[in-house]
Amino acid sequence: MRGTLSFLKPQLREAVGGYKLDVPECPIKLNQNENPYDWPSSLKQAVFERVRDMSWNRYPPFVPAAFVAKVAKYVGVDPGQVLVGNGSNELMYAVFACVLEPRRKLVITQPTFTLYALLGKVFGADVVDVPLDAEMRFDLPGLEIAAKDAACVIIATPNNPTGSVIDPMELEHLVASSEALFVIDEAYFDFHGVSALELCATHKNVVVLRTFSKAFATAGLRFGFMVCHEAVQPYFATAKLPYNVNIFTMAAVEVALEQANVLKGRLDEIKRERERVIRVLKERGLHVYPSRANFVLFESDKNARKLWEKMVKRGVLVRDVSKYPRLERALRVSIGRPEENDAFLKALEAALVEVKK
Ligand SMILES: Cc1ncc(COP(=O)(O)O)c(C=O)c1O
Repeated sequence: MRGTLSFLKPQLREAVGGYKLDVPECPIKLNQNENPYDWPSSLKQAVFERVRDMSWNRYPPFVPAAFVAKVAKYVGVDPGQVLVGNGSNELMYAVFACVLEPRRKLVITQPTFTLYALLGKVFGADVVDVPLDAEMRFDLPGLEIAAKDAACVIIATPNNPTGSVIDPMELEHLVASSEALFVIDEAYFDFHGVSALELCATHKNVVVLRTFSKAFATAGLRFGFMVCHEAVQPYFATAKLPYNVNIFTMAAVEVALEQANVLKGRLDEIKRERERVIRVLKERGLHVYPSRANFVLFESDKNARKLWEKMVKRGVLVRDVSKYPRLERALRVSIGRPEENDAFLKALEAALVEVKK
């Protein structure tokens, strides 16, 4: 049997296994920036009832126009600007498929969401890093230079795992300075409240990605959407798989939109808890980066992996980001319920004593 795997694209050898997640069973789960509050059972029941009477043997509508119109109305944009997806990651994939190929440049900031570089490599693009500054702020002049000959620039704001945000005026300047496509990943928009959405109406080179996985507490159902200029939407629609959002998810998202106040009712508490966690971490002498998302990045002078392991032993799972560029000493914690945040702070305090360096 021949086994050279020469049928694979060469760049896959570099990318293979690049997106792994170490998830030991822990009662306190603060590693994926999820909403710590599940849907109330009355809302789940409302979804079950809608789905029960549907025809499961039939495909969803080829273009789910009525559904897209509801999403567009909620966001305040024209339905012709919107595409819906099985999570925002799926739409990112479709957008990349439209713009990336070998010898084209994808600009990313570093550190950022790991999937960007991984997908960039899968599509054979040259992935160019523009490092954040020492305080994890975006390097606008650096991005402007890198964007000049790029096909695509992807920016998460708030950025994962740092929590950093980009100023909307600076973003507008950046977008106007280049022909590249700017993908603005607003997965954590609801914790920040500042959006690049308006740019989509006036600039053909802007895509905004949003997800229901965070503020809407819907990560398990997989739903995200993208907004762009209506002149470019048909191109992205061509690269998207048909029937990519199933009838269960559509029913759930309709309920979510009708009951947005209930599902997003804990956002203020999460933001307050974020500030409390930041304050306590700082009081303990740790270096904490400002965050506008539902997670916090912090550094100590101790080995981050060892701290992570000690906390896992105490049943608290945070994200070990120490393999990310420039984050050798860092961990990221998602903001949970108040009692979960207390358990995290306690476990960290003990781990800091136990780990010598
Ligand atoms: C920056 C960023 N974008 C997108 C996602 C995932 O979005 P979705 O669940 O809609 O695919 C995440 C999840 O952690 C994220 O951090």
